[in-house]
Amino acid sequence: MRLAKYLARAGVSSRRRAEELIFEGRVSVNDVQVDQPQLQITEEDKVTVDNKVVSGIEDKVYILLNKPPGYISTAKDTHNRPTVIELVNMQAARLYPVGRLDADTSGVLLLTNDGELANRLMHPRYAVEKVYHTWVYGLPRPETLEKLKKGPLIEGEKRTPARIKILKKDPQNNIALLEITLTEGKKRQVKKLCQAIGHPVKKLIRYSFAGLNAGNLKEGSHRHLQSEEIEYLYALVKLESQS
Ligand code: URA
Repeated sequence: MRLAKYLARAGVSSRRRAEELIFEGRVSVNDVQVDQPQLQITEEDKVTVDNKVVSGIEDKVYILLNKPPGYISTAKDTHNRPTVIELVNMQAARLYPVGRLDADTSGVLLLTNDGELANRLMHPRYAVEKVYHTWVYGLPRPETLEKLKKGPLIEGEKRTPARIKILKKDPQNNIALLEITLTEGKKRQVKKLCQAIGHPVKKLIRYSFAGLNAGNLKEGSHRHLQSEEIEYLYALVKLESQS
C-alpha cells in the first residue's frame, strides 16, 4: 500500500495531509526519512511520524455469527438485499464472510478481515470440516444413505464422501433430520447431495464450521472469537500464530 494511503488508513490524517507530512520530512520508514508518498509499505515496515510509531492499519477482527435465514453472505449485494455484514454492524473493520451460506441457510458463519486465515480456511487443501443439520423430505433408507456416504455424482463430478447420521425421524410428517459433515465447500452442496438421493432439503442449518458451533448464540447474534479459538484456527490451517 502507498505510504500516504497507509497513514490515512491508520487514522493519522487525510491522505492529502499525509502527503504534506511526508514532504515536510516528518515521516520515516524503518528509521529512514522519506519524501515519497507513493512509497510501497508492507505490514513489516516500521512507519513513524514525528518519531512516533504508527500502529497497524487495521486490527484483526474475528466474529462468529449465528446467521438467520434471509441474509446473503456477501459483503455487498447488487440487489440491495440485507447482508450478513449489516447484521454485525461494524463499519470500522472491512469484514468478509469465510465462505458462503445460501440466503435461506442459517447457522455458523465466520466473518473476518484476516484475509490469509480466511483463504486457508476455504482452501480444499486444509479440508476444514463443516457440519450441517438438515431436515429433508422423506425418510431415507440405510442403503440410500450409503450412496451419500460414498459421494454421489453431481453434475458429472464425483464428490468427496460425506459423513452422515440420522438424528431424528418424523414419520408423521414424513421428514428426517440428518447430520452431514463435509470437507468440501462447493456451492449449494448439501442441497445438491440430498436432491441426488431423492430427499430434497426442507431446512438447512450449519451446525459448526472448523469445530466452532453457535453454542448459546441466538440466531442473528454474534460474538468475537476468543484468542484460544483464533490460535486453534491458525494451527488448523498451519499458519503461524501472530501472538
Ligand atoms: N450447502 C448448501 O446447499 N447450502 C449452503 O448454504 C451450504 C451448504
